[in-house]
Amino acid sequence: MKLVNAKDMIAKAYAGKYAIAHINTNNLEWTKAILEAAQENKAPIIIGVSEGACKYMGGYKTVADMTIDLMAHMNITVPVALHLDHGTYEGALAACDAGFTSVMFDGHHLDIAENLTKTEKVVAKAHPKNISVEAEIGSIGGEEDGVVGNGELADPKDAISITKLGIDFLAAGIGNIHGAYPANWKGLNLERLGEISKAANIGIVLHGGSGIPDGQVKEAIELGVAKVNVNTECQLSFAAATRKYIEANKDQQGKGFDPRKLFKPGSDAIKATIKEKLELFGSINKA
Ligand code: G3H
Ligand code: ZN
Repeated sequence: MKLVNAKDMIAKAYAGKYAIAHINTNNLEWTKAILEAAQENKAPIIIGVSEGACKYMGGYKTVADMTIDLMAHMNITVPVALHLDHGTYEGALAACDAGFTSVMFDGHHLDIAENLTKTEKVVAKAHPKNISVEAEIGSIGGEEDGVVGNGELADPKDAISITKLGIDFLAAGIGNIHGAYPANWKGLNLERLGEISKAANIGIVLHGGSGIPDGQVKEAIELGVAKVNVNTECQLSFAAATRKYIEANKDQQGKGFDPRKLFKPGSDAIKATIKEKLELFGSINKA
């Protein structure tokens, strides 16, 4: 199957009150693990790639070509969208020319007028090429200089203005945080999510999907979240499984140092984490 635009899978999830997993990739092994997990669980999936990860992997085109070729080689039949995550304006436009089927323009740091102007331009470039667009309002918290910020709650008025531009799904700050959640985290602001969701009337994207208690994720999906972004949890499972392999000295037994063997426990761990997420988000057998 060819890569698809993410619009339909998100719209179906939104209507059916489940969510599509957006799993960030970091390299070829990661992409293979994501594709295998999606295929084995018959789940539509979004492969998210940050600009930093694109640079690391050899540029937008390398990432797109690798994903397309892997899908053909692996006989992937479930819908897969390749999505630029937290794209800059220039990055979103470049990804549209490189074979991505979905892009996020993250203009949350701009004032709302400029965020709207640039989002509109990205939609104008992406939609004629059948590429879906995610925009962001408010901000997602995260660590900066050792301090974990809570982010800024999105304003429902901005949700109305930005969805009028024809975007396909909307990321919103609702108390969510990238990376690990601090012990004193107040939880998702579900009341604000409800207001944003009502105002936007399209699928809402929950960033910082690692480490949110399952009950809150389920409530968020009930309120209109149709895409959940997960990166850190897969990185942690990969690292823990790789550490276990090395600490058991398996790299020193036979050809255990062969990267194809060395990466296997980590890849299996990523797949197991993705399966847990697909179950939680309710997207198994939705392909
Ligand atoms: O855009 C990517 C995500 O929001 C991932 O967040 O690393 O906290 O799972 P996470
Ligand atoms: Zn994010």
